[in-house]
Amino acid sequence: MRQSLVIGNWKMNGTRESAKALAQGIIAGLGSSSAELAICVPYIHIADISALVNGTALGLGSQNIADKASGAYTGEISASMLSEFGCKYALVGHSERRSYYGDTDASVAARFCQAQEKGIIPVLCVGETLEEREQDKTFAVINEQLDAVISAAGIAAFSKAVIAYEPVWAIGTGKTATDEQAQEVHHYIRQYIAAKDQSIAENLQILYGGSAKPDNAQGLFAMPDIDGGLIGGASLDAESFLKIYNSTKAV
Ligand code: PGA
Repeated sequence: MRQSLVIGNWKMNGTRESAKALAQGIIAGLGSSSAELAICVPYIHIADISALVNGTALGLGSQNIADKASGAYTGEISASMLSEFGCKYALVGHSERRSYYGDTDASVAARFCQAQEKGIIPVLCVGETLEEREQDKTFAVINEQLDAVISAAGIAAFSKAVIAYEPVWAIGTGKTATDEQAQEVHHYIRQYIAAKDQSIAENLQILYGGSAKPDNAQGLFAMPDIDGGLIGGASLDAESFLKIYNSTKAV
Protein backbone atom coordinates (compact mmCIF):
# COMPACT_ATOMS: atom_id res chain seq x y z
CA MET A 1 0.00 0.00 0.00
CA ARG A 2 1.09 3.56 -0.63
CA GLN A 3 2.18 5.62 2.35
CA SER A 4 0.27 8.88 2.76
CA LEU A 5 2.27 12.06 2.30
CA VAL A 6 1.48 15.68 3.10
CA ILE A 7 3.78 18.45 1.90
CA GLY A 8 3.52 22.10 2.88
CA ASN A 9 4.42 24.73 0.29
CA TRP A 10 5.21 27.92 2.14
CA LYS A 11 5.68 29.88 -1.10
CA MET A 12 7.25 33.35 -0.53
CA ASN A 13 6.17 33.80 3.07
CA GLY A 14 7.79 34.21 6.46
CA THR A 15 10.66 35.95 8.16
CA ARG A 16 13.69 34.07 9.40
CA GLU A 17 12.20 33.96 12.90
CA SER A 18 8.63 33.12 11.90
CA ALA A 19 9.86 30.35 9.60
CA LYS A 20 11.82 28.74 12.42
CA ALA A 21 8.89 29.10 14.82
CA LEU A 22 6.51 27.50 12.32
CA ALA A 23 8.85 24.56 11.74
CA GLN A 24 9.26 24.10 15.49
CA GLY A 25 5.49 24.19 15.98
CA ILE A 26 5.04 21.49 13.35
CA ILE A 27 7.77 19.30 14.83
CA ALA A 28 6.27 19.67 18.32
CA GLY A 29 2.88 18.40 17.08
CA LEU A 30 4.08 15.56 14.85
CA GLY A 31 2.74 12.66 16.90
CA SER A 32 3.04 9.13 15.68
CA SER A 33 1.08 9.04 12.41
CA SER A 34 2.33 6.53 9.87
CA ALA A 35 1.99 9.19 7.17
CA GLU A 36 4.92 11.28 6.08
CA LEU A 37 5.09 15.06 6.48
CA ALA A 38 7.39 17.54 4.74
CA ILE A 39 7.72 21.28 4.19
CA CYS A 40 8.98 23.09 1.09
CA VAL A 41 10.39 26.34 2.37
CA PRO A 42 11.93 29.40 0.67
CA TYR A 43 15.54 28.77 -0.35
CA ILE A 44 16.87 31.38 2.07
CA HIS A 45 15.39 29.48 5.03
CA ILE A 46 16.62 26.04 4.03
CA ALA A 47 19.82 26.17 6.13
CA ASP A 48 17.95 27.23 9.30
CA ILE A 49 15.13 24.74 8.84
CA SER A 50 17.49 21.94 7.87
CA ALA A 51 19.15 22.23 11.30
CA LEU A 52 15.74 22.10 13.00
CA VAL A 53 14.33 19.09 11.14
CA ASN A 54 17.55 17.09 11.47
CA GLY A 55 16.79 13.92 13.44
CA THR A 56 13.00 14.48 13.36
CA ALA A 57 10.34 12.86 11.18
CA LEU A 58 9.67 16.13 9.35
CA GLY A 59 11.08 16.14 5.81
CA LEU A 60 12.49 19.17 4.04
CA GLY A 61 12.13 20.29 0.45
CA SER A 62 12.63 23.19 -1.91
CA GLN A 63 10.00 24.95 -4.03
CA ASN A 64 12.06 24.80 -7.20
CA ILE A 65 15.43 23.48 -8.41
CA ALA A 66 17.74 24.49 -11.23
CA ASP A 67 17.44 22.78 -14.60
CA LYS A 68 21.26 22.63 -14.87
CA ALA A 69 23.87 20.98 -12.66
CA SER A 70 26.23 23.96 -12.12
CA GLY A 71 27.81 26.90 -13.86
CA ALA A 72 27.03 30.42 -14.97
CA TYR A 73 23.32 30.51 -14.10
CA THR A 74 22.90 33.60 -11.97
CA GLY A 75 20.29 33.30 -9.26
CA GLU A 76 19.75 29.55 -9.59
CA ILE A 77 20.09 26.87 -6.90
CA SER A 78 21.34 23.43 -7.95
CA ALA A 79 20.33 19.95 -6.88
CA SER A 80 23.75 19.33 -5.30
CA MET A 81 23.39 22.50 -3.20
CA LEU A 82 19.97 21.38 -2.01
CA SER A 83 21.09 17.87 -1.24
CA GLU A 84 23.96 19.23 0.89
CA PHE A 85 21.28 20.74 3.16
CA GLY A 86 19.31 17.53 3.41
CA CYS A 87 16.47 18.37 1.03
CA LYS A 88 14.48 15.24 0.37
CA TYR A 89 11.96 16.79 -2.02
CA ALA A 90 11.89 19.51 -4.67
CA LEU A 91 8.72 20.87 -6.22
CA VAL A 92 9.00 21.04 -9.99
CA GLY A 93 6.58 22.73 -12.35
CA HIS A 94 4.38 24.39 -9.77
CA SER A 95 1.74 26.36 -11.68
CA GLU A 96 3.04 29.65 -10.24
CA ARG A 97 6.46 28.84 -11.70
CA ARG A 98 4.90 27.87 -15.02
CA SER A 99 2.69 30.94 -15.30
CA TYR A 100 4.76 33.74 -13.68
CA TYR A 101 8.33 32.64 -14.36
CA GLY A 102 8.09 30.90 -17.69
CA ASP A 103 8.91 27.34 -16.60
CA THR A 104 8.14 25.25 -19.68
CA ASP A 105 7.36 21.54 -19.90
CA ALA A 106 10.93 21.05 -21.16
CA SER A 107 12.56 22.98 -18.29
CA VAL A 108 10.30 21.22 -15.78
CA ALA A 109 11.49 17.88 -17.18
CA ALA A 110 15.12 19.03 -16.87
CA ARG A 111 14.52 20.09 -13.23
CA PHE A 112 12.93 16.70 -12.53
CA CYS A 113 16.02 14.94 -13.90
CA GLN A 114 18.44 17.20 -12.01
CA ALA A 115 16.66 16.43 -8.73
CA GLN A 116 16.83 12.68 -9.28
CA GLU A 117 20.52 12.84 -10.24
CA LYS A 118 21.22 13.96 -6.67
CA GLY A 119 18.74 11.64 -4.98
CA ILE A 120 16.12 14.34 -4.40
CA ILE A 121 12.52 13.25 -4.98
CA PRO A 122 10.86 15.55 -7.50
CA VAL A 123 7.25 16.46 -6.80
CA LEU A 124 5.94 17.04 -10.30
CA CYS A 125 3.02 19.49 -10.26
CA VAL A 126 0.43 19.20 -13.02
CA GLY A 127 -2.99 20.69 -13.50
CA GLU A 128 -5.33 22.57 -15.79
CA THR A 129 -6.55 26.16 -15.75
CA LEU A 130 -10.25 26.97 -15.45
CA GLU A 131 -10.40 27.80 -19.14
CA GLU A 132 -8.85 24.46 -20.05
CA ARG A 133 -11.30 22.61 -17.80
CA GLU A 134 -14.24 24.43 -19.34
CA GLN A 135 -12.99 23.48 -22.78
CA ASP A 136 -12.74 19.83 -21.70
CA LYS A 137 -8.98 19.90 -22.08
CA THR A 138 -8.08 18.73 -18.57
CA PHE A 139 -6.80 15.30 -19.59
CA ALA A 140 -5.03 16.64 -22.70
CA VAL A 141 -3.16 19.19 -20.56
CA ILE A 142 -2.17 16.54 -18.02
CA ASN A 143 -1.00 14.22 -20.82
CA GLU A 144 1.25 16.92 -22.21
CA GLN A 145 2.71 17.81 -18.82
CA LEU A 146 3.38 14.15 -18.00
CA ASP A 147 4.68 13.23 -21.45
CA ALA A 148 7.38 15.90 -21.33
CA VAL A 149 8.81 14.30 -18.20
CA ILE A 150 8.26 10.70 -19.28
CA SER A 151 10.13 11.28 -22.51
CA ALA A 152 13.04 13.04 -20.76
CA ALA A 153 13.35 10.81 -17.69
CA GLY A 154 11.70 7.51 -18.72
CA ILE A 155 8.79 5.87 -16.96
CA ALA A 156 11.07 4.09 -14.46
CA ALA A 157 11.94 7.50 -13.00
CA PHE A 158 8.43 7.63 -11.55
CA SER A 159 9.39 4.99 -9.02
CA LYS A 160 11.31 7.78 -7.24
CA ALA A 161 8.95 10.68 -7.80
CA VAL A 162 5.69 12.13 -6.53
CA ILE A 163 2.97 13.74 -8.64
CA ALA A 164 0.83 16.58 -7.34
CA TYR A 165 -2.43 17.25 -9.15
CA GLU A 166 -3.18 20.90 -8.60
CA PRO A 167 -6.05 22.36 -10.63
CA VAL A 168 -4.86 25.94 -11.22
CA TRP A 169 -8.38 27.28 -10.59
CA ALA A 170 -8.27 25.85 -7.06
CA ILE A 171 -4.87 27.18 -5.98
CA GLY A 172 -5.17 29.96 -3.44
CA THR A 173 -8.72 30.69 -4.54
CA GLY A 174 -10.67 28.98 -1.78
CA LYS A 175 -12.35 26.88 -4.52
CA THR A 176 -11.40 23.28 -3.82
CA ALA A 177 -12.07 20.55 -6.35
CA THR A 178 -14.81 18.28 -5.06
CA ASP A 179 -13.66 14.90 -3.80
CA GLU A 180 -15.05 13.31 -6.98
CA GLN A 181 -13.51 15.87 -9.35
CA ALA A 182 -10.11 15.35 -7.77
CA GLN A 183 -10.46 11.56 -7.67
CA GLU A 184 -11.41 11.50 -11.36
CA VAL A 185 -8.15 13.20 -12.37
CA HIS A 186 -6.02 11.24 -9.89
CA HIS A 187 -7.45 8.03 -11.27
CA TYR A 188 -6.79 9.25 -14.78
CA ILE A 189 -3.14 10.02 -13.94
CA ARG A 190 -2.66 6.61 -12.32
CA GLN A 191 -4.16 4.86 -15.34
CA TYR A 192 -1.99 6.89 -17.69
CA ILE A 193 1.14 5.75 -15.84
CA ALA A 194 -0.24 2.20 -15.46
CA ALA A 195 -0.55 1.89 -19.22
CA LYS A 196 3.23 2.24 -19.30
CA ASP A 197 4.10 0.45 -16.05
CA GLN A 198 1.50 -1.11 -13.78
CA SER A 199 3.63 -1.56 -10.71
CA ILE A 200 5.08 1.95 -10.79
CA ALA A 201 1.53 3.31 -11.05
CA GLU A 202 0.35 1.26 -8.08
CA ASN A 203 3.15 2.58 -5.89
CA LEU A 204 3.10 6.18 -7.09
CA GLN A 205 2.03 8.78 -4.52
CA ILE A 206 -0.34 11.28 -6.16
CA LEU A 207 -1.12 14.31 -4.00
CA TYR A 208 -3.97 16.77 -4.34
CA GLY A 209 -3.29 20.51 -4.08
CA GLY A 210 -5.56 23.53 -4.30
CA SER A 211 -7.27 25.14 -1.29
CA ALA A 212 -7.01 21.98 0.80
CA LYS A 213 -7.97 22.88 4.36
CA PRO A 214 -8.62 21.08 7.66
CA ASP A 215 -12.34 20.90 6.89
CA ASN A 216 -12.08 19.36 3.41
CA ALA A 217 -8.89 17.29 3.67
CA GLN A 218 -10.45 14.16 5.12
CA GLY A 219 -12.96 13.79 2.27
CA LEU A 220 -10.28 14.33 -0.35
CA PHE A 221 -7.79 11.97 1.28
CA ALA A 222 -10.42 9.25 1.63
CA MET A 223 -10.57 8.93 -2.17
CA PRO A 224 -8.80 5.79 -3.40
CA ASP A 225 -6.29 7.51 -5.68
CA ILE A 226 -5.53 10.52 -3.46
CA ASP A 227 -2.48 9.76 -1.34
CA GLY A 228 -2.18 13.05 0.50
CA GLY A 229 -1.85 16.73 -0.26
CA LEU A 230 0.35 19.62 -1.32
CA ILE A 231 -0.80 22.39 0.97
CA GLY A 232 -0.19 26.11 0.39
CA GLY A 233 -2.04 28.64 2.56
CA ALA A 234 -3.10 26.18 5.26
CA SER A 235 0.51 25.04 5.77
CA LEU A 236 1.45 28.44 7.19
CA ASP A 237 -0.30 27.64 10.43
CA ALA A 238 1.08 24.68 12.40
CA GLU A 239 -2.29 23.71 13.82
CA SER A 240 -4.17 23.62 10.52
CA PHE A 241 -1.26 21.94 8.75
CA LEU A 242 -1.14 19.22 11.42
CA LYS A 243 -4.93 18.79 11.24
CA ILE A 244 -4.62 18.19 7.52
CA TYR A 245 -1.77 15.77 8.14
CA ASN A 246 -3.89 13.89 10.66
CA SER A 247 -6.68 13.58 8.07
CA THR A 248 -4.66 11.19 5.92
CA LYS A 249 -5.93 7.66 5.65
CA ALA A 250 -4.20 5.01 7.68
CA VAL A 251 -2.37 2.39 5.61
P1 PGA B 1 -3.21 26.53 -1.70
O1 PGA B 1 -1.90 26.27 -2.58
O2 PGA B 1 -3.35 25.37 -0.74
O3 PGA B 1 -2.96 27.84 -1.01
O4 PGA B 1 -4.37 26.60 -2.65
C1 PGA B 1 -1.55 24.98 -3.01
C2 PGA B 1 -0.29 25.05 -3.83
O5 PGA B 1 -0.12 25.99 -4.60
O6 PGA B 1 0.59 24.17 -3.72
